[in-house]
Amino acid sequence: MHARLHALVAVAAFGMAGHAAAQGSTMDEIAKYREMLADGNPAELLELKGEALWKKPRGPKNASLEQCDLGLGPGKLDGAYAQLPRYFADTGKVMDAESRVVHCMMTLQGLSYEEATRNWYSKPGQDSDIEALVTYIGGKSNGAKINVPARHPEEARMAKVGEYIFYRRSGPQDFSCAICHGQEGKRIRLQELGKLTTPAGAGTAMGNWPSYRVSQGAVWTMQRRLIDCMRQARWPEPSYLADSIIALETFLQKTASGTVMQTPGIKR
Ligand code: HEC
Repeated sequence: MHARLHALVAVAAFGMAGHAAAQGSTMDEIAKYREMLADGNPAELLELKGEALWKKPRGPKNASLEQCDLGLGPGKLDGAYAQLPRYFADTGKVMDAESRVVHCMMTLQGLSYEEATRNWYSKPGQDSDIEALVTYIGGKSNGAKINVPARHPEEARMAKVGEYIFYRRSGPQDFSCAICHGQEGKRIRLQELGKLTTPAGAGTAMGNWPSYRVSQGAVWTMQRRLIDCMRQARWPEPSYLADSIIALETFLQKTASGTVMQTPGIKR
């Protein structure tokens, strides 16, 4: 908790260094962060909701998710998120936390893919089970070191594909991820973009998700974060759980390996 507060204060201090022209909105944001500090992270409520969902028998098979294997064995959640994405022999695929939760909803609870993913992100007035479950699972890696060595040939291949996508320029603006995220101290307006190509930079970016986004008033998962960045790059939007997103996650988690997770986080 202490480390989390520390991060919050750093975020607030960063906001204060803004330009005078943007002072109004910056001050609004600082006020919002202050509120957050006083009330705690709203994502912690979602963590609790996720825990309840995890344990509750649901779906046509009336089963809970407690036997779901996120890579460390059925029901073993401590540190599991920090070691994802990874290769799963039962599906023959490299999967992240979200694709694995969906897999478990289908295999253990008997839901169809459409049913499991219908509300993969929340909208005003409509909660998302996946968001809650992934926030709970992520929280079980709070304080754990990210550890994605990508040694399995399929993991190594996905990390390579992710690296390729990260640097590849395409789309109407000829953007790449690296154009926005390949340098230290790069900003759009007041937003720090983060250099994702160093362990420390990738760690700051990856280790705090799922995160409560103050600007959105909602928790975002890493899938949502990356799909939205594809949109920022003006690329065609990939579908939820697309291999391209999992490849990018594998590349970024491999780069971030060795840094410590602090999740759920709070982000702008
Ligand atoms: C046009 C610029 C732009 C492009 C291109 C872009 N992003 Fe982003 N990215 C952003 C912005 C803006 C944010 C949010 C920063 C904030 O709000 O604090 C962000 C945030 C992120 C984060 C979270 C960082 C953190 O500190 O939590 C990740 C991870 C990320 N982007 C990955 C990518 C990847 C992978 C690509 C390529 C598919 C990409 N981005 C392309 C602008 C961009």
